[in-house]
Amino acid sequence: MTADETIKELQQDPRLVEIYQEAQQALDEAKDLKALQDVQVAFLGRKGKVSVLLQGIKDLPQEERKLRGRLGNLLKGHIESAIEAKSKRIEDRELERTLRQERTDITLPGRFIRFGSQHLISRVIEDIEDVFIGMGYRVVEGPEVELDYYNFEALNTPDWHPSKSLSDTFYINVPGEDYDDVLLRTHTSPVQIRVMENTPPPLYVIAPGKAFRHDVPDATHTPMFYQVEGLAVDDNLTLGDLKGTLEYFARSIFGSDRDVRFRPHFFPFTEPSAEVDVSCHMCKGKGCRVCKGTGWLEILGSGMVDPNVFEYVGYDAEKVSGFAFGMGVERIAMLKYGIPDIRFFFDNDLRLLKQF
Ligand code: DAH
Repeated sequence: MTADETIKELQQDPRLVEIYQEAQQALDEAKDLKALQDVQVAFLGRKGKVSVLLQGIKDLPQEERKLRGRLGNLLKGHIESAIEAKSKRIEDRELERTLRQERTDITLPGRFIRFGSQHLISRVIEDIEDVFIGMGYRVVEGPEVELDYYNFEALNTPDWHPSKSLSDTFYINVPGEDYDDVLLRTHTSPVQIRVMENTPPPLYVIAPGKAFRHDVPDATHTPMFYQVEGLAVDDNLTLGDLKGTLEYFARSIFGSDRDVRFRPHFFPFTEPSAEVDVSCHMCKGKGCRVCKGTGWLEILGSGMVDPNVFEYVGYDAEKVSGFAFGMGVERIAMLKYGIPDIRFFFDNDLRLLKQF
């Protein structure tokens, strides 16, 4: 039935035409789905105009009730389909608008996904571990909060040693206690003692980890830094074994054509002791800025384990011998990758981190 035909029918009751026109106008004014819903309630809801009208006819005489019922339902049907049609139009329009607004611009350049990478220090530690694991060493760890006994005493370090002073070592105060023997380890060497206490010889271990010293940060010092400690104890180890081991290590890290040299030194826990240099990989030993013109880079401290140390852990110094060494990881990384300032490792500046 067309709208005209509907109107013609409805004209049999002027009240219906009135409602029809009111509904038409309300629909014209409804601009969104919410307004449309209000129209629906106002006309077709339980107390809406059409519903009220239909309810009012039930007491009429039968003939009239039939006619009014038919006309009322005609009006109801008309308003229903008008609301439906308008709601479809509004939905289409809103869809159209979101499609236009949220359109994907396929000409935009893609977003670059950054991948994280291992920190250079972690990588150098792993590289060092790999070299020694390849020689049959085991990787062990020890606590960062240590006792004086492990950090100094059992390492044959006398009480008067300068490294024990308050200006070098971070001591930990336990509230209410008068301890001066709890500290942050100043090197990874105490792990040597802990391992030997718990393991009979032979022994081949390395111990990577953090060390702490009361240093003011500058280009070569930070109060926390990393070391890798090494310890080998066996029947018949000699200085020759130490030298061969460190030469193999230096060549693995700095290049196969490197040389190493030992310079006599002093450490309380080794006798004899030596500092070890590797020939400069930058200038191949000719002398440059990195090696300060000497052709050599100092990379670690080492020596033959002092018999006093064996005594502390209950090893028989007559039966076993051993060598030990300790290196600064940041120093190795700086030399290998030409990084001029140790603080760069801890600044977390992506411009540095991204390069590795
Ligand atoms: N612990 C020493 C330091 O921090 C490094 C070191 C030297 C470790 C000689 C050793 C060693 O095991 O034998 O300066």
